[in-house]
Amino acid sequence: CCSEKRDERTRKSFLHCKSTASKPGERRGEPPYERKRLKNITENAKFFAALKLHEGAHVSVIRKCINCSRAKPKKAEDETVRRRSMRLQRVEPSGIPVAEVAAQLGAEEYVRWGRVRGGVVTMLCRYQDSLNSMVLSQENVKKVVKYRVCSMAIHPSESLLFVAAGDKTGQVGCTSEEGAHVFVPHSFSVTCMKFSPCNPAHLLSLSTESLRCGDVTRAVFDEICRSEDLSSFDFLEDNACSAIVGYWHGDVAVVDRRTPGTSSELSVDIGFKRTRTVHVHPVNKQYFLAAGSVRVVTVCADDKLRFISFSVCCFPPPPRLFPRRHNNNTGRWLTRFQAVWDPRREDCFVVGSLARPRQVEVFQDTGELLHSFYNPDCLSSVCSINALHPSKNILVGGNSSGRLHVFKEE
Ligand SMILES: *[C@@H]1O[C@H](CO)[C@@H](O)[C@H](O)[C@H]1NC(C)=O
Ligand SMILES: *[C@@H]1O[C@H](CO)[C@@H](O)[C@H](O)[C@H]1NC(C)=O
Ligand SMILES: *[C@@H]1O[C@H](CO)[C@@H](O)[C@H](O)[C@H]1NC(C)=O
Ligand SMILES: *[C@@H]1O[C@H](CO)[C@@H](O)[C@H](O)[C@H]1NC(C)=O
Repeated sequence: CCSEKRDERTRKSFLHCKSTASKPGERRGEPPYERKRLKNITENAKFFAALKLHEGAHVSVIRKCINCSRAKPKKAEDETVRRRSMRLQRVEPSGIPVAEVAAQLGAEEYVRWGRVRGGVVTMLCRYQDSLNSMVLSQENVKKVVKYRVCSMAIHPSESLLFVAAGDKTGQVGCTSEEGAHVFVPHSFSVTCMKFSPCNPAHLLSLSTESLRCGDVTRAVFDEICRSEDLSSFDFLEDNACSAIVGYWHGDVAVVDRRTPGTSSELSVDIGFKRTRTVHVHPVNKQYFLAAGSVRVVTVCADDKLRFISFSVCCFPPPPRLFPRRHNNNTGRWLTRFQAVWDPRREDCFVVGSLARPRQVEVFQDTGELLHSFYNPDCLSSVCSINALHPSKNILVGGNSSGRLHVFKEE
């Protein structure tokens, strides 16, 4: 969807190897290792061709998500859910002056943003039934990357389960029912990954030194932004042409794929010593939210910044609610927990846990524990990074030795 004006020099293939790869079969008389590597490239290309990620099918899945985020809740819902959804609608851009929208951005709204994403609101008991139906079996535990999982993304395809995991050393492992493949597009922890909302073959991956757009069918990872200090990114538009990036040193900036070169634009100091994550509002894309080490800031078109402090950074309940204690002392060897909202609900999220037996927990925003995913026979470790499929009953938990655990309906 973006016109390919990029400098060819920034285009690189990364496959089982950190150096720039040449085209398969290009050279003769290369050492056995090189031959094997080139053979691998060809095999991988076949593998991804077999994935059959049909563009049309994928895009319709995505659009469906965007539309249902605006959908009115069903009649059967309880009163709390209905009230919440109405508040959500009030922040939509439908004729409300910017100042009024801004005034509504109280603490509740910050937290609510994460919940709008694709959320078809269903009754809680039905939601719990669906969580109960998701089980882990031994064949759904797979080692995908060598070291600890730092980020994960699930492809929205409904016909094929395709999961990407990024590790501590810059590897990106892609796995489907067909098999697993590893790329090495980065040299440091892959801290953020997302599939492009408009091209089913595109996986964007971020590490401190670069943001890349990987075409998994061609095994090519184009450099979109080169830097030294990147922490996270989020798309600014549904066509994935521009993104907002956060820097560990605190700034945030815009990356536009249509401009030549690999530097970011519009860099802004938001007064943070560290910016850990950035998230663009799922509907009102002129707003984004950034989280530092102890607080959250929102940057708004009304020229105001708003801050909220939280005492526990990875578990921020809205201030009006009683904060729930959650042991997050993951220590040195485990990836820090990252809570993720269930894309199908506006009020529930998933987070790793240090509890035994090892489990992944689902909470409602009231602080109530709704469900624990566990299976002592197959899950014996902490899953710090978790991802949920946007439309199917699938949860993937990644642990600190590169192993993925897929909970799904039998
Ligand atoms: C080729 O791929 C296999 C696994 O798919 C891997 O074990 C091997 O190291 C790769 N070889 C090279 C030279 O990249
Ligand atoms: C999304 O909703 C709008 C308005 O309700 C409609 O015009 C559009 O066709 C919908 N798109 C999809 C992909 O369903
Ligand atoms: C974990 O939570 C404790 C309080 O429960 C807090 O002091 C600590 O900073 C948190 N650690 C991280 C890494 O978020
Ligand atoms: C990750 O999971 C696998 C399989 O469940 C387990 O054997 C391994 O010890 C786990 N790694 C860590 C670091 O806990």
